[in-house]
Amino acid sequence: MKEVKYSKIYRIIHWAIAVSFVLLLLTIFLRLTWLNKFNVAAIIQEYLSDTDQILTQEQLIVLAKKIRQPMWNWHIYIGYVLVGLFSIRFVLPALGHMKFQNPFSNTLSLKEKFQKWIYIIFYVCVIISLVTGLIIVLGPKDLKKPMEEIHILSIYYLLAFIVIHFAGILIAEFTDQKGIISRIVSGTKDKN
Ligand code: HEM
Repeated sequence: MKEVKYSKIYRIIHWAIAVSFVLLLLTIFLRLTWLNKFNVAAIIQEYLSDTDQILTQEQLIVLAKKIRQPMWNWHIYIGYVLVGLFSIRFVLPALGHMKFQNPFSNTLSLKEKFQKWIYIIFYVCVIISLVTGLIIVLGPKDLKKPMEEIHILSIYYLLAFIVIHFAGILIAEFTDQKGIISRIVSGTKDKN
């Protein structure tokens, strides 16, 4: 298999997207665990019951969401950053960088076709996440609920992609693409 060289622009976009996804995952992790609204509501309730004060479950959830909001705002900021980064990523092929490869090409092996399809499926899923995320925040109220139902499914493909991506890189590094990890970090000669 021929050795792929990663240009500076390729590496900058790759790592900017990777870091953004890690931070985005952190916000999702916090929302699903420590800052889960039911957990926080239970903590408030426990405290109030010791002081003979009572709030309804609805009021507790409102408070819990308010406590979580400053953290969750970061999900939205990082979401906007990803909208910007993916917009650049999708424009780059037109400028001769980070070209998309055709998975239908007859010259590709089965393994390479699989690789290209994984990227295409990932990009389609990311576009769906970004668009539904933007509609939840900026779109009309009546679309909020259906968009949320689609958007929250993002975690499944994201985790699946991360596992496949890491496994693929490790397999490549230890088989026919020795040095791929150092090339995506420090690059060698610039190429598209
Ligand atoms: C590829 C990018 C994105 C991924 C993978 C992603 C992933 C997720 C996930 C998994 C959740 C659900 C968390 C939970 O179950 O508690 C979520 C919720 C949310 N996301 Fe994103 N997100 C992305 C981009 C965005 C963008 C661009 C925005 C808006 C600018 C956004 C706004 C929101 C909002 C407002 C919620 C809360 C929805 C609710 O209340 O149920 N997200 N996101």
